[in-house]
Amino acid sequence: MRRFLHLLRQIATAPRAWQDSLRALLVLGAAEAAAAAGAAHPVAQSPWGKTSDGAVDIYTLTNVHGVEARIATYGATLVSLKAPDRNGQLKNIVLGFDSLEPYLKGVPYYGATVGRYANRIAKARFTLDGKDYQLAANDGPNTLHGGRRGFDKRIWKAEPLSAAQGNGVRFTYVSAAGEEGFPGELTVHALYRLDDQDNLEIEYTATTTAATPLNLANHAYFNLTGDPSVSVLDHMVTLNADRFTPVDATLIPTGELRAVEGTPFDFRTAHTIGSRIEAPDEQLRRGHGYDHNWVLNKPAPGMSLAAIVTEPRTGRSLEVRTTQPGVQFYTGNFMDGKPVEAGGSGFAHRTGLCLETQHFPDSPNQPSFPSTVLRPGKTFAEKTVLSLRVLK
Ligand code: BGC
Repeated sequence: MRRFLHLLRQIATAPRAWQDSLRALLVLGAAEAAAAAGAAHPVAQSPWGKTSDGAVDIYTLTNVHGVEARIATYGATLVSLKAPDRNGQLKNIVLGFDSLEPYLKGVPYYGATVGRYANRIAKARFTLDGKDYQLAANDGPNTLHGGRRGFDKRIWKAEPLSAAQGNGVRFTYVSAAGEEGFPGELTVHALYRLDDQDNLEIEYTATTTAATPLNLANHAYFNLTGDPSVSVLDHMVTLNADRFTPVDATLIPTGELRAVEGTPFDFRTAHTIGSRIEAPDEQLRRGHGYDHNWVLNKPAPGMSLAAIVTEPRTGRSLEVRTTQPGVQFYTGNFMDGKPVEAGGSGFAHRTGLCLETQHFPDSPNQPSFPSTVLRPGKTFAEKTVLSLRVLK
């Protein structure tokens, strides 16, 4: 103690510059110690608004490089993701809004967690264990992204992870049996975790009280320029897939797994989105551009590469790895640039691209596709990692 007091007295009488350096050293030491203890970047929580269902909060995750992910409890929605360019300049690379209001007006799933069944179910119906189920048709004759009020329009409970679990938040939603026509009470978790290597992990787990189809995806629209008014047509895309699932006129898969070889759907080597999007191709015409599910090459079960997107001007690059069997690559073809208040998408045509890692669309009606049925006693688990990288 005496020695401690002596040191304090010495510091008090030291020159100002020494005092400043010492203070900086102490702050740095504390940050390093906190980092070692896993608590360097405390998760911030703030109120974000209200719906008729209750209060909505927004959570902010940050890492040592200033990467920042903001996720709202409304739809467990990724509202923004700040990523560095090749000069270290941080900009938001996912389309979204600063306030809750636009999300309540029915925007096209910006950053949202979509379910109970992400993507389409043909004719809004399916049969499971001999029983027929009728859903809401909210996309022509089909059900899209869970129906009228899917998981994107629900308020999720949130719980920051413990220091040992990492820098993140676990969102939970309990979907009642019969909600939107789906059987079984489903408890679903969406976990977002950001590490100091600039990887944002999104993990879904779920259990059910009765057999149900289940397909969960994040619906972020990326624009790596960091400028949401710029088209994504110059982004370079690689998709790790030899095949895709062609669709009918209502965007329901025909059941065929078609080789991408020799088609504008071949992204096995990097191509700009714009280079072939206007090619005279029946599938591109049906999707009004790219709006299809690619069958991911899976050398082994578990995580594997799904996609790499690069934006040559800023040098921003995004790598997507996933346990899921497919990815819906959607190029914002239905974005119209009209104000959200007028029922528009708020952002202009093709200013965002989606890489919705998922199970194949309409699997409940397609016996040859991998099963999407979750049964009681089993746990659904799928993970996707978004890695932010920079081109030199
Ligand atoms: C669908 C598109 C749809 C978009 C927004 C995508 O997953 O495939 O057809 O327009 O979501 O709803």
